[in-house]
Amino acid sequence: MIATDIDIDIESMHEHVVVRRGARSGLPIVVAVHSTALGQAIGGCRLANYPHWRDGLDDALRLSAAMSDKCALAGLPNGGGKTVVALPPGVTPDGATRRAVLHDVGDVIAGLGGTYATGPDVGTGPDDMATIAERTPYAFCRPVGAGGSGDSSEHTAVGVLAALHALCAERFGSSDLSTRSFAVLGLGRVGGHVLRMLADARATLVASDVDDSRRALAGAAGAAWASPQDCLTADVDVLVPAALGGLLTPHTVPKLRCAAIAGPANNQLDAPATADLLHQRGILWAPDIVVSAGGIIHATAVELHHETSTQATVRVHGIADTLTDILRTARAAGSTPAEAARSHARRRICGAHR
Ligand code: PHE
Repeated sequence: MIATDIDIDIESMHEHVVVRRGARSGLPIVVAVHSTALGQAIGGCRLANYPHWRDGLDDALRLSAAMSDKCALAGLPNGGGKTVVALPPGVTPDGATRRAVLHDVGDVIAGLGGTYATGPDVGTGPDDMATIAERTPYAFCRPVGAGGSGDSSEHTAVGVLAALHALCAERFGSSDLSTRSFAVLGLGRVGGHVLRMLADARATLVASDVDDSRRALAGAAGAAWASPQDCLTADVDVLVPAALGGLLTPHTVPKLRCAAIAGPANNQLDAPATADLLHQRGILWAPDIVVSAGGIIHATAVELHHETSTQATVRVHGIADTLTDILRTARAAGSTPAEAARSHARRRICGAHR
């Protein structure tokens, strides 16, 4: 980088943001590359409905910045990025339209020349990655049969379980999950796995999803079913947010009855200051950027570093140590885990700039 006398806060600004109306699909595509300071930027491709494409842009900016911290905390040689296809309300592309938009996404990523690689996220899965890969090699988690590391959701869930053990050890003095109660909010691909794994650990469970058809999943896991609102405010030891972000707000935090929170949903806080509200209420919040890293840890270990899935899984379990470290640092400093995580990540990223 050429030295200038203009002092720019490097972390507050994205390196590269592309907004493009897909040539085939006509749909708005945003690819936000937040940072490549530590290496190639990575982050999933989200296919979701937004009132306006600008809301999708905002989401991509927020999510990609969080990915930079997530990669840094996971110890990966990668930076943060994100793709958002901002679908108009009520639109769910399938068949030829889905292929068209995924090829449009692939072309935008191809244009970034390898500075960014995508992966599955809310609304996309391994088959979609294979379709994107028809246009660019930079797509993680294609199906195993197609040469990728496959569905990342189970690995993300393994990381969440590791985090829950560490969180319970810190908050309740024991990592035993069978004596604890959990409210799992969101039974999508990751949430569904987390619920099953908690059931296997003989935990007491409440579960919810906006999609009522997921009720059967809850039943199979022996979980009580609740509305999303009741699940959020359930009287349990641990709340596990596994749906969309922004659920912890100045409005919802006073209503919570859990003692701790850890889950895979990205960007759980509506704003950084909400971490202070949780802290004041004595609710221990495990930063989502630590808890949700299992998918990227597994995919990069297998696809970039050619490890076996078993070796990669050992790394995913490392989330427990990372979280323990952050929770203890926060406790010793009297700060929030959010602050401890952020400063830990900043140290790594800024170190790379020097
Ligand atoms: N949803 C994952 C994330 O953004 C997507 C991902 C998985 C990206 C694997 C790259 C590799 O954290």
